[in-house]
Amino acid sequence: MERRKEIELSENAEQILKARYLKKNGDGELIETPEEMFYRVARNIAEANQKYDEPVEPAAQKFYDVMTALEFLPNSPTLMNADNDLQQLSACFVLPVEDSMEDIFEAIKNAALIHKSGGGTGFSFSRLRPRDDRVRSTGGVASGPVSFMHVFDAATDTVKQGGKRRGANMGVLRVDHPDIREFISCKEDEDELNNFNISVALTENFMKAVESGGTYELINPRTEEAVASENAREIFEMVVERAHGNGEPGIIFLDRINEDNPTPALGDIESTNPCGEQPLLPYEACNLGSINLSRMVKGEPGQAGIDYDKLEETTRTAVRFLDNVIDMNEFPLAEIEEMVRGNRKIGLGVMGYSDMLLKLGLPYDSKPAVNTAREIMEFIRETARSESHRLAEKRGPFPNYQDSIYDKPYRNATTTTIAPTGSISILADTSSGIEPIFALCYERNVLDDTLIEVHPVFKEMAEKRGILSDELIDSLTGRNSIQDMEKIPRDIRDIFVTAHDISPEWHVRTQAAFQENVDNAVSKTVNFRNDATIDDVREVYRLAYELGCKGVTIYRDGSRSEQVLTTDDSQ
Ligand code: CDP
Repeated sequence: MERRKEIELSENAEQILKARYLKKNGDGELIETPEEMFYRVARNIAEANQKYDEPVEPAAQKFYDVMTALEFLPNSPTLMNADNDLQQLSACFVLPVEDSMEDIFEAIKNAALIHKSGGGTGFSFSRLRPRDDRVRSTGGVASGPVSFMHVFDAATDTVKQGGKRRGANMGVLRVDHPDIREFISCKEDEDELNNFNISVALTENFMKAVESGGTYELINPRTEEAVASENAREIFEMVVERAHGNGEPGIIFLDRINEDNPTPALGDIESTNPCGEQPLLPYEACNLGSINLSRMVKGEPGQAGIDYDKLEETTRTAVRFLDNVIDMNEFPLAEIEEMVRGNRKIGLGVMGYSDMLLKLGLPYDSKPAVNTAREIMEFIRETARSESHRLAEKRGPFPNYQDSIYDKPYRNATTTTIAPTGSISILADTSSGIEPIFALCYERNVLDDTLIEVHPVFKEMAEKRGILSDELIDSLTGRNSIQDMEKIPRDIRDIFVTAHDISPEWHVRTQAAFQENVDNAVSKTVNFRNDATIDDVREVYRLAYELGCKGVTIYRDGSRSEQVLTTDDSQ
């Protein structure tokens, strides 16, 4: 295999790799370089080819090349665990929580095993009987979903001591569960349930009642009987107010998610993974990977175009990589192994979208940008499906294909997902997922020095226009917007919009444009300014519903002292 001598790693990437990804010996000393890590992963994942009598070496070379060029990276567990003792390669899991003490604690145990290996877990608590309901065996009363969530949370806290990243959970409750009010406000105190993101699962029936101003029924899952009715608008308002308060809960549109369930015969989807981008069946897992869009362009910054040939090639390699991961993966539970090998879901997505737009010279909050998002994702989905179809012809369709919605054989029940890419976008030194940039200039503490890093595309453009100077860089430092800096030409300011400048509406439009061509879902935080009102939040929920999003997560600037999953070192 031809090895690359230099990988363009940023200082930040080097540090994260050393802290969490590179192999260490028993004394905690590094025994691997970043280049050796990519070699280890490429060889390990290519080995799956043997199973199908396909040559290993050329595949290993391609996998190695796309990763070391930072054009495609798999999710962190694949980088951390391939060819290591664990060999657990997936980021996303959903576990069932049945309504019995044995099953609840079984789920907690299984979640601990998954967290230990770097995976995140999602749960629906909708099957648990409500607080104060009967417990026949003891003659006592039930604690209810929220109370049990605290036990899951405490277990996660304890497990995080030993792992490479802190365990993350998603907790979902159907809007028609009798404990819905308690659930909506269970994270009102920001010290509570810190290892959980929470989402209310909204049904079509509920959304209709919101529209008409009517009521809907609350159902006890144990008896399947209606026990009360609620005013839909009142509950919706509660969710909006809490989200405005500190970003929690998020919402998911459950029926819409199930409309896209590729294997309805195997059951309903009840939950997503922790960051919301991956709806899964109970006991299902999915491995993700992301293409770095900022490296899929050609031409001068500011006027570049998309390199579709390169994007096609990279997409095909990525699909083969992610399909191989399923064969090389070792799962923490037999039930998960059966489900994953039956559906073979993969989640290919993108990172560096915002950096790509800067190179193309398109403002994030513009129609041309949103159209580009739609086109690119359509291209990726078509190419990914075409490659999955080719793989099916060679390796066979996914075993549950007969029970699926497809009339054409695919190797994978789903192929596309947009992940947050919290860590891998740092490794690739690009903007995360499909989020906008937050600033043009960052201060970075490296050893004893504070370095000022200017966004590379801005630097290049400013240099070309003859405005780059120490003074300019100084005046950029600490700013989250350059819109009022008159010494920067208007056309440059128009392109370099930051999260601070972009209205929530454009966040939603961007999310929806990607969602149109994504099988699974899209990780996105709709950012609001601190002074946004409850009406603004309600309007975004309405727009997300109208535009076909599968869920919404919002965050109002400064509304929380710390976010659960950000790009900080908790990743
Ligand atoms: O960049 P990286 O591959 O590390 O992960 P990501 O794209 O930020 O997150 C993808 C998924 O990994 C999340 O939705 C979670 O399911 C899982 N995750 C986790 O379990 N624990 C974390 N600390 C971060 C992510």
